[in-house]
Amino acid sequence: MSVVALINKLEATQILSKDEFIYIIDNYTDEDLTYLQEKAVVVRKWYYDNHIYIRGLIEFTNYCVNDCYYCGIRRSNTNASRYRLTKDEILECSDIGYELGFRTYVLQGGEDPYYTDDLLEDIVKSVKEAHPDCAITLSIGERSFESYKRLFDAGADRYLLRHETANDAHYRKLHPDSMSLTNRKQCLQNLKDIGYQVGSGFMVGSPYQTSADLAEDLIYLKSLQPDMVGIGPFISHADTPYKDEVSGMMNLTLLMIGLLRLMLRTALLPSTTALGTIDPQGREQGILSGANVVMPNLSPQGVRDKYLLYDNKICTGDEAAECRFCMQGRMESIGYQIVETRGDAISTIESA
Ligand code: 5AD
Ligand code: FES
Repeated sequence: MSVVALINKLEATQILSKDEFIYIIDNYTDEDLTYLQEKAVVVRKWYYDNHIYIRGLIEFTNYCVNDCYYCGIRRSNTNASRYRLTKDEILECSDIGYELGFRTYVLQGGEDPYYTDDLLEDIVKSVKEAHPDCAITLSIGERSFESYKRLFDAGADRYLLRHETANDAHYRKLHPDSMSLTNRKQCLQNLKDIGYQVGSGFMVGSPYQTSADLAEDLIYLKSLQPDMVGIGPFISHADTPYKDEVSGMMNLTLLMIGLLRLMLRTALLPSTTALGTIDPQGREQGILSGANVVMPNLSPQGVRDKYLLYDNKICTGDEAAECRFCMQGRMESIGYQIVETRGDAISTIESA
């Protein structure tokens, strides 16, 4: 079968075999990608019109107990200048975000035991109390079932935890032995069982990744049925073991976004900062490949240049308002419109 025939099949059946996904990844041409993007945009417009959901990203700690080989805030990176935001600083960010039209806050950080369940519960409750019409998304790594449950009961609505790679051997190449894919998947299942809207995802072009790994990522995501999927290119960081690895490719990332849109039709798919970092038009291209979410940075100016997962990250010098309106301009330039709502996934709204 040709790549175009396989794209048509995916559109019709919303799943392909591992070999079929591999065939697409290994053989697609520029024309095939354009064809996929057109299909993906039709599906995304069917559910979400030309609307773009925005999330205010608050990077509240860059301390991390983990040592992932690709990540700039890994424990062993002694060059990282570490910071933590207080509850009041986080609340201040959320107030600024509210004025700018954000109705979702993403509280993201490294795995930092300083933020105990008690402290996080207080933070989540306080943000929710200040802004009851907003959704709170947590992105703070692996925690126990009980911890996830307490934070959910405190008011957190969504949780982002990328699986990073669905292939066990590949997972081992990216992470130290203290981490496991089994545990990661268990965390995702726990989050779903508790009732969070769950987001997962992976990096494109991470070291040692093969087409078969990417195909497995897609098939795993099909079985997980997440509400959100965040993907972006791997970008090397100078203070990590993978400092000399080449970064992921823009076109392959766009291909993955398009395939995800056809496979998980209503999913929330962000056009990520990493995509905007490898190409000045990356975030626009992500939207034109089927993505429907952007996550401008809401972190305080003083810490932005410290939350560096990879080199050359964009938007580290800009104010929250600058990013918010820059993003609006970018979206309008390609015929899309930012909406100031919570931006829940369609499937979530239907089942509510
Ligand atoms: N390049 C691109 N993405 C990265 N992440 C971490 N390190 C890098 C890197 N070097 C991604 C991971 C993580 C998310 C928050 O950022 O996928 O889940
Ligand atoms: Fe941050 Fe454009 S989105 S400066």
